[in-house]
Amino acid sequence: MKMVKIFLVLGLIAVATSAPTCPEPEGVQAYAHTQNCDQFFLCTNGTLTLETCENGLLFDGKGAVHNHCNYNWAVECGTRQHDPTPISSEGCEYQFGIYPISHECSTTYMKCAYGEAIPSECEPGLAYDERIHGCNWPDQLLETCNPEAVVGFKCPTKVAPDSLAARFWPFPRFAVPGDSKRLITCVEGHPRLISCGEDKIFDESSLTCVEHEEAGHHF
Ligand SMILES: *[C@@H]1O[C@H](CO)[C@@H](O)[C@H](O)[C@H]1NC(C)=O
Repeated sequence: MKMVKIFLVLGLIAVATSAPTCPEPEGVQAYAHTQNCDQFFLCTNGTLTLETCENGLLFDGKGAVHNHCNYNWAVECGTRQHDPTPISSEGCEYQFGIYPISHECSTTYMKCAYGEAIPSECEPGLAYDERIHGCNWPDQLLETCNPEAVVGFKCPTKVAPDSLAARFWPFPRFAVPGDSKRLITCVEGHPRLISCGEDKIFDESSLTCVEHEEAGHHF
């Protein structure tokens, strides 16, 4: 009797693991594979498929780089395993990844997709930071970057105490000649180019970013 029960339980587990079903009948859901970090289960309107991330990508449930997968350096696999062997091509270690163009200060980097390297530009005023696989303020990259060269601005060592810029001390602000969407702020003597963001423009009379209409009142 006991044996029968055990076999019955084992049988149910076998059925459950070999033929899992989708908990949701509609929509698209992705579920982690319990053993493999580079695989996941995808439910598409209730139909289950086992998917494998492209080379250089892993599954963490949050990644949206390509087919629900994320860059390998961003994923915590825990106890899930994967084969880390890269499939390399010109400029790309893995088929999918983000790589530096040089180890010197650079405002461009390589984005690889299907093994094809696509040169990509940082936002103006930023430089590529290998540590974060993305772009960063050049004053955070002083070993390789000269922020004055990247931003194209030299912070004054002194600011007149009664000036508008001094109001923002220790981060004095300055207008960017010919650019109404950005401002420069100095952090420990190094310039940072800051974008006002969408729908905002730089107002020279207050040295702040303001809504379009607000700025209009000053003219
Ligand atoms: C799921 O089914 C709905 C309704 O039949 C359909 O409109 C939709 O395109 C389907 N979604 C996918 C991802 O196949």
